[in-house]
Formats: sequence, C-alpha cells, structure tokens
Amino acid sequence: MHRFTRLRGLPARLSMTGLLMVSASLASAAEPVLTVASPDHVLTVQVQVRDGQAQYQLSRFGVPVLDWSRLGLQFSDAPSLADGLNIVASATRTVDDTWQQPWGERQWIRNRFSELRVTVAGADEAAMAVVFRVYDEGFGFRYEVPADAKHAKRTIGNELSEFAFTGDHTTWWNGAYLPNRYEYLYRQSPLSAVWKAVTPLTMKTAQGLYLSVHEAALLDYAEMTLENVGGNRLKADLVPWSDGSKVKTEGAFATPWRTLTVAERATGLIDSDLILNLNEPNALGDVSWLEPGKYVGVWWEMHIRKSTWASGDRHGANTANVKRFIDFAAKYGFKGVLVEGWNVGWDGDWIANSELFKFTTPYPDYDFDGLARYAKSKGVRIIGHHETSGGIANYESQLDAAMAYMQAHDVRAIKTGYVKQNGLIERIGDAGKPVHEWQHGQFMVRHYQKVVEVAAKHRIAINTHEPIKDTGLRRTYPNWMTREGARGQEYNAWSEGNGPGHIANLAFTRMLSGPMDFTPGIFDLGSDEALRERNLSSTLAKQLALYVVLYSPLQMAADLPENYEAKPAAFQFIRDVPADWAQTRALDGEIGDFVVIARQDRNSRDWYLGAVGDENGRLLRVPLGFLESGVRYRAQIYADGVDASWDKNPEAIDISSREVNSNAVLSLRLAPGGGAAIRFAPIGAVK
Ligand code: NOJ
Repeated sequence: MHRFTRLRGLPARLSMTGLLMVSASLASAAEPVLTVASPDHVLTVQVQVRDGQAQYQLSRFGVPVLDWSRLGLQFSDAPSLADGLNIVASATRTVDDTWQQPWGERQWIRNRFSELRVTVAGADEAAMAVVFRVYDEGFGFRYEVPADAKHAKRTIGNELSEFAFTGDHTTWWNGAYLPNRYEYLYRQSPLSAVWKAVTPLTMKTAQGLYLSVHEAALLDYAEMTLENVGGNRLKADLVPWSDGSKVKTEGAFATPWRTLTVAERATGLIDSDLILNLNEPNALGDVSWLEPGKYVGVWWEMHIRKSTWASGDRHGANTANVKRFIDFAAKYGFKGVLVEGWNVGWDGDWIANSELFKFTTPYPDYDFDGLARYAKSKGVRIIGHHETSGGIANYESQLDAAMAYMQAHDVRAIKTGYVKQNGLIERIGDAGKPVHEWQHGQFMVRHYQKVVEVAAKHRIAINTHEPIKDTGLRRTYPNWMTREGARGQEYNAWSEGNGPGHIANLAFTRMLSGPMDFTPGIFDLGSDEALRERNLSSTLAKQLALYVVLYSPLQMAADLPENYEAKPAAFQFIRDVPADWAQTRALDGEIGDFVVIARQDRNSRDWYLGAVGDENGRLLRVPLGFLESGVRYRAQIYADGVDASWDKNPEAIDISSREVNSNAVLSLRLAPGGGAAIRFAPIGAVK
C-alpha cells in the first residue's frame, strides 16, 4: 500500500508508481519530500533530508502544527546518525486492526494508521530507519537502529528529536529534574516560559487545537524530557546516567516512540488510544490471573498519623487491625486489603536506611501466614507492599524471593515504592564507589521493568509508586496495572494540599499517560480534625466522582472503615462502582476547569458518570446520548448539596434517584471544589 507516499521533486512517473527506493545521489540532488497522511487525511507528516540533516513536519488539514523539526541520534563512541545523512530507502504500509485489552478503560481498541519508514544512511555505512505512524488523532515516530558490526556497544550522547511548534501556545506542564519527581502542581504558562518539562505536556493553540507531547514504549532507554531551545521549539532531553551518557545500547535497538496527540476538543486528548496503540501486544500470554478491582487498606491512617509504619505501640500493620480491614473488605465487597509497614525496615529513618528493608521478614505482630489464610476464607486477598526507599541493590538481591514469598501468601498485587528525598538513587558504580542515578534515567527504567517481569513470573501485578512515568507498557506487560506519578491524595493529608483545581488539571495531563493510583474516597472532610489538620479541598460528591474520572484498574477506597460506615448512603456509590470498563467517553471539559467522563462497566450494562470542577461553581448540561437508546435507566445521582463548598461545607451531598433515557439532558450543579457521580442501571425498555 503505497498510496500515501508522494516523492515531491521526483518525476511524476516514479511517484505514481509508488516507487519508494530513492538512491542516495538522487535524494541529495532533488531533496525529495516524503509524505504520509493519516487514514482519513486529517494529519500529514512530511520528511526530508536537508543539508545532510533529517527533518519532519506535521500539518492538520494542510495547516502546519509542527514546523520542520530535527531528527537524529548522536553517539559518543560511534559514527553519529545526525549529519551527512542521505535517504536511501522508504516504504509505507497501512494498518487497520482491533485488539482486546485484558482490562482497561475500554475493551476493544482500534489501531488504524499509515506508516512511513524512511531509511537514512550516514558516514561509515551507519544507517537507521525513522518510522512514522500517523493516526487521525496524532502520530508517533521512533528510530530503529540496526547492529553495527564495528561498534557492538554504542552510547547515545544526544537525541536531536524536536517538536517545533508554530506558536507560543498555552502550556500545562511540570518541570523535569525536580527533587519530588512528578509530584508537583501543574503549571500553566506560555510555551516560551517552559524550561525543561516532563511529559505528558499539554498545550492549547490560539486556534483552539489541543496538543499532548509524550512518548510510548519506554523500554531500556532514558526518559525523554523536553528542553525549550527557543523559537517555540522543544527538544528531546534524555535523562542522563551519572557518567553523563544518555543511553547505553548494545547491538540493534529501537527507541521509544515520540508522540503528539492533536485534538479539536480537550476531551479528544482523553479519548485517544495513541500511546497504547504504539506499544507492542501482550508479551505475557495468559493473564486471566490479573484481578482488576477495588481495595482498602492500612494506609491513610499512617498518612494522618493515627498509626505508624514503624513497629511499636502504634504499629498499623498488626494482625488485629489487618483482620478488621479484611472483615470490612469482605462485608462490603472489596477484593483487596493493602498492608503497608508489615515488614522489617521501617524503624528509624527508613528513607535514609533503605538497606534495612527485608522483604520476607514480617514484624512479629503481623501474622502473615494466619492473615493470608483468614483473608482466603473471606474471599479477600492481601495486597503486598515493597517500599524500597530507592535501595535498588538491596531490593534486587531479594526480588525473586520477595515475589515468591508474596505468591505463597496468595498475593496477586504488590504496591512498590521508591521514596527518596532528592530524586537520586545511589548505586555502586564501575569504579566501586557510590554514584547517584536519576530516578528516570536508563538505570532505573531497567529496574522498574525488571520488577514487572519478575512479578509476572509469580503471577503478581505491580502498582508502582514514585514510578517512571507510564508510556503504555501495560499493553505489553498487563501486570503493570497502575502507578502513582503525580501528586496523589496523600498530599492532602500532610502538605498544603493539592487545591480544588488539581483533578481538572490531572485529567488532561498526567492521566493521558495511563492509570493512576490516586487513592480516592476520603469521606472525613468536615470533622474538626479534618478541617484543622488536612487540606482536602474537595466536596464529598467530588470524592465519589474521582472513581470515574481518575481511571485505575486497582482503585482504592482510601479512608478508614469507620468513616465509610458513618456515611452509608454515599458509600453505596463506592461499593457499586467498578474498576474495569467496557467503554469510556470523555464528554466535556476544559483543561484545569472541569471534566465529565462516562464509562460503561465491563461486567454489566451499567454506565457511570463522573464530573469534577475547580474552585468555581458550575452548572453543566450533560446529554445522555451515550446510554443505549430505547432503554430506561435508573440514575442514582450523588450531587453537591446546595450549600456545599470545598472550604466551608464539604460534606453536604444530595443523593437522589430518577428515571432517564438516552434522550435526556441532565443539569449537573457542581459546587466550588465540587463534583458529581452517577450510576445508570438499566430497568427495562422505553415504553
Ligand atoms: C509514598 C507512597 O506514595 C505512599 O502511598 C506510601 O504510603 C509511602 N510512600 C510509604 O511507602
């Protein structure tokens, strides 16, 4: 299928026959421009080599979205693929297939793109292919570099990939190389005010287009951050090793995909499957052992300082307390009970003393064997916890045994953690002395991946905290189910809080990369203690809406059992809402202001809707056209009370029920800092 490629500057006869082999001399003489359009001709990518340098450009309906942007890789110990290049071959193909997610925001995903593969060669016979996959909603490109017989090992010193935007777009972003990793409130500024940013990075153009820059399939490579190099250009800035090199390669390799999603509405960014589609299919085979679902656990009580991770009188992970959680989970239908602080290593300064963590040694007051049996008898599983505090050598030396130990206790999911004060991980370098690696460089990318693969052998899912960002690898490794990677609920327990606008930012930024273990569902918002000591900046209805808005296949009900039992009517929504979906539709929203998302349960015909706003109240009109037509539904509506607000009256909630169908338009009133959650259950045919 060559119909999407045109070689400008070549005789018509050649381009019409779709001849895509361009000889080096012809290429440099005529400077051909290779063109590939998305399946419905929405986006067009052009590629050329000019003065020996490879470049690409993107337009949408003929209007440039990216100006000519540089491509290339520089090696510090081998001939570079950056200058003196010629196009030596190109080829196109189109793909249109549909694949099934074992769990996810939607069950079926269509993968429909046009591909252009351009082979460029430089000095010393060095060559690589730059592969573009162009969808109607965005595109990705990556470098595929064959082995070089003369240079078995090559070190990337610089990746030249650029995104040359056409204006000083409004940008929502987080800085790179910061001590708290991705855990900052999003900034909004003109693109020109960005210095170095992590991805996903979100933009809105003056013409009203919404853009998201990210990467897909980050495997054995360094994270790509984006450096502002002036003139609205962002350049790939790879997080380096302690020795300054960027990526250490051996033999043939492929880089992650560099991606841009382009949408006419902000919600189009949420509905895109570009990142997942650019990842390889499931490499694990049968994954029916994975269990998406909701969990509770020994967690919030430590963050609000009611109990401790450390041993002693206030130790949270004691047998009696965990039993209480197992009973609560069994009674209300939760599948998992997370237990943090169960193992030796938490006493003293656990962040500094990572080497003290033992992953097969429980504290004496935690009867793991007995609790595993008890949980099983109640149809519940313990969720394991491995806090490493960045002690990678210590953790890796115990990794297999640690996973086997959890598996022997019937554990199917483990939350891992990498708390470090400065985003730097110590390891013993080649010279036998300690060196410090960035948490998002290749060293750690390899580590996170290793944990996921070892866990898979033990049929265990991973929920990474202080993770490397999500780049869609859950498609290839479906046991990498969720992660943190942004400011979660815990910040509301002990910091100045996330503020009422955080979720409306997250939905259009961090969440574009994949599931997040935000840990929603705090119900104690209005007690004296909560108002005095925490900064939750949320109404109760908004806490419910988070279960729909913030997708995670492992979704926590984070508050204490007694706080749920004190509000049974609102708790009903958390009991009902699933964590695995057949379909998802982002219905409405603006970045940082509000978002409305509807999802259909994977195991029933029920639909759920979540809406969250920012600090301003808002009246939304929500057409219910996503419901099955001809069907009557009972809508169970959890809305902010008329006098609710995040700062003065956060717990006021109005729970009502009414009959609706797909022709209805609901008015939803969001209080300042508020939200709304709805369950739609079919009750029969429309008469
Ligand atoms: C940070 C994690 O995000 C949090 O959920 C966990 O409780 C602590 N680390 C301790 O591991």
